[in-house]
Amino acid sequence: MSTPIPQPPGVPLLGNIFNVDPSNTWWSLKTLAEKYGEIFQISVLGHKIVFIASAALAEEICDEKRFRKFVGGPIIEIRYSVHDALFTAFDHEESWGIHHRIIAPLLTQDAVASHFDEMAACTDELIAQWKSLGAKNTITPLSDLNRLNLEATTLTMFGKKLNGLTGPEPPMIQAMEDSTSEAMRRPNRPKLLNLLIYGGKLKKATKTMRAFAADLVAHRTANPTDRHDLLWALQNTTDPDTGKALTEEQVIDEIVTMPIGTSTAPCALATAIHFLVQNPDVVARAREEVDRVVGNGPWAKEHVPQLEYVGGIVRETLRLSCAAPGFNIEPIPREGDKSPVLLAGGKYQVAHNQPLIIVLAGVNRDPAVFDEPLAFRPERMAGEAFKALPSGVKKWFGNGKRECIGKHWAWEFLVTVTAKIVKEVDFEAVDPGYVLKQDGWFNVRPVDFKVKVNPRTA
Ligand code: HEM
Repeated sequence: MSTPIPQPPGVPLLGNIFNVDPSNTWWSLKTLAEKYGEIFQISVLGHKIVFIASAALAEEICDEKRFRKFVGGPIIEIRYSVHDALFTAFDHEESWGIHHRIIAPLLTQDAVASHFDEMAACTDELIAQWKSLGAKNTITPLSDLNRLNLEATTLTMFGKKLNGLTGPEPPMIQAMEDSTSEAMRRPNRPKLLNLLIYGGKLKKATKTMRAFAADLVAHRTANPTDRHDLLWALQNTTDPDTGKALTEEQVIDEIVTMPIGTSTAPCALATAIHFLVQNPDVVARAREEVDRVVGNGPWAKEHVPQLEYVGGIVRETLRLSCAAPGFNIEPIPREGDKSPVLLAGGKYQVAHNQPLIIVLAGVNRDPAVFDEPLAFRPERMAGEAFKALPSGVKKWFGNGKRECIGKHWAWEFLVTVTAKIVKEVDFEAVDPGYVLKQDGWFNVRPVDFKVKVNPRTA
């Protein structure tokens, strides 16, 4: 006999529509996970969705023999912008393998490390800007880090310096916000409303994002180079299995996909700054490490793997920020078999084709795994302590075949930026009573979080 999956009481016909705030879906899901625990479900407009919020159940549904990525809801909507690119391709689409095999070699740990100097130089530029602010030193970390992220993405992957850290915000940033917010909202609106009232927003944002990508292609054409970066691979290499190359449209699809992917990194970094402000002892320990490893000499890519404690800060930030707040899974269809899928050894049952969404705000703070799950303790995320944790709580980059293809880029960027800001500047809370609240679409970030930034004094 299985246990019923808990569900908040809803209203007739509309179901649980009022349990999820359409302008802050992930915060609502975090709140529901806190209330209901390891598993819960909601029904919206007749569709049932099951949410997984414990480490053990997350680990179970990350078993690729039984489950796979579910391409549905917002992921289908964003196909309007990027078609069958890496993040949005259905399991059955040949394009996924072709694109993956062309792109993955350019995003390995070594390939990413070869762009360390560019990433570091962009970071230095932002830090120099912060240090020169004088009395007007109140910043919104997220907006500056969004710019830095786009700057580093565009330079390392596509070979163009945007010079977008100052001046008007590059329109790509707002276009990513508009396209992903629209993609999240559309599945829960009547189709006619999407078409008549909101169609324009996604269209306009898509046009901006694709123009941004086309501009990078035009820049490459106008500036021939022997750089073997991601853009070079997209344009010039073929899939080793099928011999196929990407079409011009597919090159644009993937150029647009990458900044949408990397945009999770500044969300994590802005939240890291919040945790650092709250934990001066962590800053002191990280400074000791960075000063010891890097000293006053020039920074080099070899420093990144040596910064173990900073790596712990980054992982603890990924755990507690849930910057990528979750991902979607479904049971692998079993030919002719529509019997329910059993979870937790039969404790729960779901339909054979039930979409399941992993809510990392529940999984990553599972009290069955972490003592004082809300405390920010980088040491539990480094060395042997980290290795000993169950795999279910290490899913911030997703899972298996569809795991984040940018995880090494993200790691290099997160460690480099965290280490450099720890070494170079002091942050001070603008509102010492600030309590972390997050919102967002494909990723979540701190709301209304500002700090004062000064050159380091101690
Ligand atoms: C803190 C940084 C990042 C986090 C937490 C993160 C997280 C994730 C997660 C959870 C997934 C799986 C999504 C799913 O199953 O639907 C994913 C996929 C993906 N990410 Fe990231 N990501 C980050 C940075 C990046 C970067 C830097 C890039 C680009 C270089 C990137 C590009 C992608 C792409 C293209 C996919 C789809 C992969 C596929 O399905 O084959 N992400 N990411």
